[in-house]
Amino acid sequence: MATLIFLDHSITLEDGSQIKKSCKKLGIPFSCEAGICGTCMVKITEGMENLSTMNEEEEDFGLEEGVRLACQARIKSGIVKLS
Ligand code: FES
Repeated sequence: MATLIFLDHSITLEDGSQIKKSCKKLGIPFSCEAGICGTCMVKITEGMENLSTMNEEEEDFGLEEGVRLACQARIKSGIVKLS
């Protein structure tokens, strides 16, 4: 099992799952959900190594270091902290 932490809330999710649904529960805003708009950008403050490698949508977006798109990323396992 993996854990996603945002502010003082945490959610447990299956290893390898998309973080989108959990991020919605944690209050991260979404719009296109297709890696185009950037509304769901999250700063990863801990556990970047526990996320999947960036997919094509994230690569094409040109994200800054430590930032991911919550509608695209998957969690491999372990703990990931967002801000
Ligand atoms: S919701 Fe648009 S990029 Fe994620």
